[in-house]
Amino acid sequence: MTKKNETIILGIETSCDETSAAIVKNGRDILSNVVSSQIESHKRFGGVVPEIASRHHVEQITYIIEEAMKEADVTFDDVDGIAVTEGPGLVGALLVGVNAAKALAFAQEKPLIGVHHIAGHIYANHIVQELSFPLLTLVVSGGHTELIYMDEHASFHVIGETRDDAVGEAYDKVARTLGLPYPGGPHIDKLAHEGEVTIDFPRAWLEDDSYDFSFSGLKSAVINKLHNAKQKNEELLVENVAASFQESVIDVLVTKTMKAAEEKQVNQLLLAGGVAANKGLRQKLTEACEQHGIHLTIPPLSLCTDNAAMIASAGTILYEQGVRSDDRLNGQPGKQL
Ligand code: KG4
Ligand code: ZN
Repeated sequence: MTKKNETIILGIETSCDETSAAIVKNGRDILSNVVSSQIESHKRFGGVVPEIASRHHVEQITYIIEEAMKEADVTFDDVDGIAVTEGPGLVGALLVGVNAAKALAFAQEKPLIGVHHIAGHIYANHIVQELSFPLLTLVVSGGHTELIYMDEHASFHVIGETRDDAVGEAYDKVARTLGLPYPGGPHIDKLAHEGEVTIDFPRAWLEDDSYDFSFSGLKSAVINKLHNAKQKNEELLVENVAASFQESVIDVLVTKTMKAAEEKQVNQLLLAGGVAANKGLRQKLTEACEQHGIHLTIPPLSLCTDNAAMIASAGTILYEQGVRSDDRLNGQPGKQL
């Protein structure tokens, strides 16, 4: 079904707890995006268990790829290249996707393209809206909190990052202390909208000119507050704790992002990663961008959480730039952007 001047890429993503395969045309047109989430298997442990994740990926990967090809109605004759997340992530999980991609690329004689997981999260925005440079992305997920500047395709400059916990990690740990199920982010977000800001939690602004973040102090402040209240038999409303915690997180994220966007004079601001689902963050960032006249793009929730369409989209740009991986491609748990 491939017509000339069309690029069809098979994307594969297995870096954490989602097994996903997708077929994307010309980097922006999703023909299929099959995602199998393992959340139910990890929930009772309160977090992702790496060995369980790897085992699930092994069980799922072949079916998921077949399903993505079937749904998109393509055969390997139509596919121009295979893009796979090479890192960062859980090593055992990454290896499943990388080896599936390598085996297929070898058997079907297709180009292989290793993709950075965060590049994928950024390119989820490209599916929604063609990127316009220079741009800035705020990446907020369970493992990452970064401000990334780009002046052209596939050129990533990390101008700020967390020095300790990622935002999603702080949400999940606070949620755990509040007795909420894993992953806790969505639960805190919901409670925050039902509560009021009654506690003045700290904000880590760091040095004046720094775009770095720090959330471990805030996380400890919330946990200490809860423990102290318990010891004194003082009643704290969970929804107020959630609202106060969320206010502190969003204040720092939005203030630093807008400062960087102004300083770098960007055309576009992108939001990426699982925490982009946060209603409070979306709302505050939308308001700030309206005030500053900056064009904001936020992908739909299905493209914010881990999925292979974003990997195929980033992979298409790399494919068009002539980037190729060979059979030495390996899972890189700590890969830098
Ligand atoms: O990007 P993602 O799906 O996986 C990683 O690559 O980490 O992000 C998952 C993270 C979890 O920490 C989860 O609690 C958080 O995103 N999250 C949220 C919300 N929805 C998901 N955090 C805050 N508010 C939300 N609505
Ligand atoms: Zn992710």
